[in-house]
Order: sequence, then structure tokens, then C-alpha cells
Amino acid sequence: MTTPALVSRLPAVGTTVFTQMSALAFDHGAVNLGQGFPDFDCDPKLVDHVNDAMRAGHNQYPFMTGVPALRAAIAAKLEARYGRRYDSAAEITVTAGATQGIITAILCSVHPGDEVIVIEPAYDSYLPSIQLAGGVAVPVAMRVNEQGYSVPWDQVAASVSARTRMIVINTPHNPTGSILRQADLAALAAIVDNTNILVLSDEVYEHMVFDGEPHASVATHPVLAERAFVVSSFGKTYHVTGWKVGYVAAPAALTAEFRKVHQYNVFTVNTPMQHGIAAYMADPAPYLGLAAFYQKKRDLFRAGLAGSRFTLLPSDGTYFQCVRYDAISSLSEAEFAKWLTVEAKVAAIPVSAFYGTPKESGIVRFCFAKKDETLQLALERLARL
Ligand SMILES: Cc1ncc(COP(=O)(O)O)c(C=O)c1O
Repeated sequence: MTTPALVSRLPAVGTTVFTQMSALAFDHGAVNLGQGFPDFDCDPKLVDHVNDAMRAGHNQYPFMTGVPALRAAIAAKLEARYGRRYDSAAEITVTAGATQGIITAILCSVHPGDEVIVIEPAYDSYLPSIQLAGGVAVPVAMRVNEQGYSVPWDQVAASVSARTRMIVINTPHNPTGSILRQADLAALAAIVDNTNILVLSDEVYEHMVFDGEPHASVATHPVLAERAFVVSSFGKTYHVTGWKVGYVAAPAALTAEFRKVHQYNVFTVNTPMQHGIAAYMADPAPYLGLAAFYQKKRDLFRAGLAGSRFTLLPSDGTYFQCVRYDAISSLSEAEFAKWLTVEAKVAAIPVSAFYGTPKESGIVRFCFAKKDETLQLALERLARL
């Protein structure tokens, strides 16, 4: 018997650079500042809330749209933070992490041949999701200079065609650590106003914006909010990336279509975590304090690299720090990241991996969502280079 031949839906997809670099880091005993997740635990109170929910018998399928208490808590947070009232029954859906929210938003709205503008470098799930929907990704590269990365809105506008169905944005931005500001939202609104173009706004790092700046959620902008799927993730906010619980907020008509796909690609998201997170959200202090928590780590990491031969780019949000390494090496980003892992024993991610067609800028990304002692150890090694 032979296995039937299969034509791949995603022929260009292999093992991700994150998996490769983590394996390399493990093999060489390197400090792993590659993959983006904390090496510290979440608040035990959150675990207690989940335990309580399990013992209270919240162990069967919840509503397809999410546990009502969690949807209500999300709606209250969105209104308090961004001033837009989402109806928790009709406009908020709990998802299996942001990733499932992203692919579901794309599958429900992008038809074969539709174009989706993606600003690169971009989080790695956008392109395969568009491809699975039969859509065509239209990349627009961010500009990068000493002030950091920025979105060239003139080029985004020039990339719009009669086939454009969606524009994907991400703020705060992985991998660059840049943020969008109100002027960016205004530029995007000018492009999409009075069109049928939807916006997918990946805001998983919404509570990690530094130096007192506000997070410019598309929920704050009426023109954008009326056409946007706003995606977030509790994994980032509460240091529980392995729980895979997130949400999508969108106007009722968009949410109705979103749920038609959600109903069949995941149906529901695990019940006790939803109850636990809902109870934990009653106190806003953990997410309100997150920016200060990560800003301290950013400052520690940047101070440690200040005397090194790396050139630091701005890190205005997220838990990522991008650096140029041209004073140390002329290797390609991928080769340099490998060299750094094997020789200096610190793993990083090449930013070139975040482009559909790899683009060399001589920049790698470090993740500083690590214990201070992990960061210190990495800094000792990096400062020697
Ligand atoms: C920009 C961005 N979007 C989405 C995700 C995925 O989030 P989740 O783990 O909740 O699916 C990540 C995770 O790294 C991310 O960096």
C-alpha cells in the first residue's frame, strides 16, 4: 500500500526559524533570547482562579462565542482603555489564541484572488493564512533608519487595487518593537475610508507600550473600528503563552461572518481558562502594570548593550529589541543568528525571516521577556563580542 500523493496547500512552508533557533540554542547551551515567550511563571492568583473554575465544574463545552463573563470583561476593558463600546454578545469572540483569531478573520473575509496588504517584516502566520484562503499577499516593506522602523503609508496607498480586501497591521509590532501612533491611524483611515477594505489589527502586545505613550488601538479610531477585526492574546498579557486564549473584537456584521468560520475551525476555547481569566480581569492592575514591568527589562537590556558593538534600534513596545551587528560581522542575518547561538551562546532571530521573500537589513531580534538573571547572563556574553 502506498500513501496517496498530496499537493501541498502551503508548499513554501517548512519548520519555522523559531523552532530551528530554539533547537540550536538547546543543543549548544545558549541563552535563548530567540523565541518570544517568558522564562518566568504567571501570577499564582491566575492559576488559582483556573483551579477554582475546574473544581466548580466548569469543564464542559462553553458557548461557541466564549464564556459570557469573559466577553463582558473584555468589552469593559476595551471601553475603559479605548473608548469604544463593543457589544459583548454580538461583537466579541474568544479565540484559541490570537493565531486562530487571525486565520479565522482572514478565512471569513478573503476570497480566492483577493489581495491582502501585509506590512513587512510581519508575524509569520499572516502569509500562510492568506494563502490558505486563496488570497494574494501584497507586501509593503517598512522603512528603517536610525529612528527605527516606520510604515510608508504612501506605499501602502500605492499598493491598493480594485482587488484589495484587507490590510493587516500590527501594533506594537513584532519583530521590530515599533508602535503605530495616532498619525499612522489617520493615514490608514484616509486610505480605507469609503472603500470596502477591511482592517485586521493584531494588537497582542497592546499593554506593552513604553515611555508613557498610549497604545493606538484601531478601536480608538471610528473609521478604522467600523471595518476592523481587533485581535489580542492573554498569552502575552498574563505570561501564559501556552494557554492559547485570545479574542477578536469586531462590529456585529463582521463578527457574524467570523463566527461562521470559528464555529467549525475550533468551535470553543477551553472553559476553565476562560473562567479563570474572567475572574482575574476584575483587577486591572496586572495589565495596567505590564508596560512598566517590561520597560524595566527593556532598560536593563539596552543599558547592558550600550557599551557593546551592537547598534540598538528603538524599542517603543513589545518585548523585543532589534539590533544592527555590522560592527561585528558581515554575515547574513540567518548566518549571524546561528553564529551568535553557537559561538557566543545567545540565540536571536534574524529579522529577514519575517519577510515572504527574505530581505537583508543586518538586523536581528532579541526577546527580553526573561528573568533579570537570564538577561544578565546574555549581556555578559554579548558585551564580549
Ligand atoms: C504579533 C503576534 N501576533 C500573534 C501572535 C500569536 O499569539 P497567540 O499565541 O495568542 O496565538 C504572536 C505570538 O508571538 C505575535 O507575536
